[in-house]
Amino acid sequence: MATEFKEIGPGVEVHGRKASLNQKPQQEGLKLKRQVNLISGITLIIGTMIGSGIFISPKGVLLGCGSIGLTLLVWTGCGLIALGGSISYVELGTMINMSGAEYAYILKGIGELPAFLFAWTSIIIIKPSTASAIAMAFAEYTTQPFFPGCSPPPSIMKLLAAFCIATIAFINCYSVKWATKLQDIFTVAKLIAVFGLIIIGFVELGRGRVQNFQSSWEGTETNAAVVALAFYQGLWAYDGWNNLNFAIEELKQPQRNLPRAALIGIPLVTVIYITVNVTYFTVLTRQEILESAAVASSVADRIIGQVPWLVPMFVAFSTFGACNGSSFGAARLNFVAARRGHLPKVLSMIQRDRLTPMPAIIFQAFISIILLIPNDFNSLINYFSFSAWLFYGTTFVSLIVLRRRMPDADRPFKVFIIIPMIMVGIACYLVIAPIVQAPVEALIASIFIIAGIPVYYAFIRGYFKPKVLVEYSGTDGLTTLASLSLERLAYL
Ligand code: ARG
Repeated sequence: MATEFKEIGPGVEVHGRKASLNQKPQQEGLKLKRQVNLISGITLIIGTMIGSGIFISPKGVLLGCGSIGLTLLVWTGCGLIALGGSISYVELGTMINMSGAEYAYILKGIGELPAFLFAWTSIIIIKPSTASAIAMAFAEYTTQPFFPGCSPPPSIMKLLAAFCIATIAFINCYSVKWATKLQDIFTVAKLIAVFGLIIIGFVELGRGRVQNFQSSWEGTETNAAVVALAFYQGLWAYDGWNNLNFAIEELKQPQRNLPRAALIGIPLVTVIYITVNVTYFTVLTRQEILESAAVASSVADRIIGQVPWLVPMFVAFSTFGACNGSSFGAARLNFVAARRGHLPKVLSMIQRDRLTPMPAIIFQAFISIILLIPNDFNSLINYFSFSAWLFYGTTFVSLIVLRRRMPDADRPFKVFIIIPMIMVGIACYLVIAPIVQAPVEALIASIFIIAGIPVYYAFIRGYFKPKVLVEYSGTDGLTTLASLSLERLAYL
């Protein structure tokens, strides 16, 4: 990108027009700026991880585990998995200075086609379905106080979810600073909510309410495939641990701030999740959790009395923030993949005055809104988990491959190699076990991923490359193509 800009200088004649004196500096400045500081880096991680999961998934985890003991163990295990994944990504993120997380690492470690397949699956399914699932949770909790005792009409929920996605897209298009500020504010709000729950738990434990822990291992599930589904639910709550890697090119001092943000963020979320679960089990019995539509609300009702809007309000904040963090990361992936020529080039354009990847943001929001139409939260999570873990696994393999292929590369943070190896094993388990439990979702996801192969050879490798897909032929005064050709620049 930069080399092409360098060719344009004051006085260079292009199509009979002289490039103006101020063209070069203006164009050279056109890239995403490093505007994300350590605090925003941390909130991009924890504010994306803490979303809907800790308020909704506990029931699913308990269902898969059968007992309180195993449930707490699974929540801890999920935290360790997130940590193992995260420190492996810290090595990759400090070594490869390219946004796009898995995309960048699979590209460097394994190759162009698998990286494209990741981008293809992620951009069309994983990222938008994630955003729409979180936005649906936002809609559910926002409408809950207005429909006591019954569920709100799906059409209202979907409209509200679409509104949430569109508002976030607007803010992200407007300014990177605003998007990260929003992330900071909503992260504080959700931390207040979870700490509130934790305090309730401690007070109740202090009052001697320990009876629910007496037969903690009763009913423990022994079928590994069923427990895998519990892991899926738990890992959904932890997902987002890699979110900062999507925006590495915008992080200030990434070699210092990425490890810090990850090593502060993930353990903090793990401790929060385990203690919030302890609160749930302290206040509610196993049966009550399984029967409750929203565990956090049931806890608040029991302890604080009827303040029907309190928990839903905080959960709405939490989901809104997570949706923002998720969309922020997803737009960067679109942007990086388009810059590489794996998506229409228009998606690698940056808004000239605001320096935001506006087309990528709008594209991501658009698909997320479409995916709201056939929304079913649980199958979305299963769907998501299968494909997500397939690519997380591939990324850990990339790390191992890069260690062999580029042993002397500069690695400011080097993870103990056993960790990514274990992570590959865990990823295999998380990809294979649910094929037994949710074969339809896994099959559909696999077909979709494989369908990317002909798309790659047809459109990206150029056998049928339609010019319009790779060459954007106008700038309509709004945006500027990142990799401009000489000719185009002259018309700006
Ligand atoms: N952990 C979040 C939640 O509990 C979901 C994160 C989705 N994943 C992502 N990469 N944005 O709602």
